[in-house]
Amino acid sequence: MILTGFMGSGKTTVGERLAQSTGKEFIDLDHYIEEETGQSISSIFEDQGEDGFRQIEKEALKKVIGNTDAVISTGGGIITYEESRDLLKGNKNHNVYFLSAPFDLLYERVKNDEGRPMLKNGYDATRELYESRLQFYEVTSHYQVDAALEVAEIEAAILELED
Ligand code: S3P
Repeated sequence: MILTGFMGSGKTTVGERLAQSTGKEFIDLDHYIEEETGQSISSIFEDQGEDGFRQIEKEALKKVIGNTDAVISTGGGIITYEESRDLLKGNKNHNVYFLSAPFDLLYERVKNDEGRPMLKNGYDATRELYESRLQFYEVTSHYQVDAALEVAEIEAAILELED
């Protein structure tokens, strides 16, 4: 299982629960990157810019995607690079679930989080980013799940689709 979707869609929370209920390993790609680099996501953005981060993110995805026995939650921008999109689309190990919800709901959840550098340009720019990304979440996923539901309901919907 791989979870994708915009910031605030609950990828980490849902992924953790799915890993627990299926007995699989949980890999949060942002956390994996922080461990590998010894740097926070924000400081990678500060030092290397978004492009630098996307390169690291792509390599990290390449490393973990072969692990069939894991639930992987990705960062919201995983669909930015074509190579990362191709990795998601071409993978034979995991179903990719796009956790989808209206922008305003997601923005309310994350807007005050200092640890998310992609929010720094405010409401309008973040909304544009969301809109430009939707098509990519759609083409790289096998299933769309309603991320406005309660966490337990999202988890149940995914488990049913895995069956
Ligand atoms: C990003 C989302 C973040 C993290 C980084 C960039 C994005 O992950 O990867 O700050 O471009 O949307 P979350 O979706 O877990 O917040």
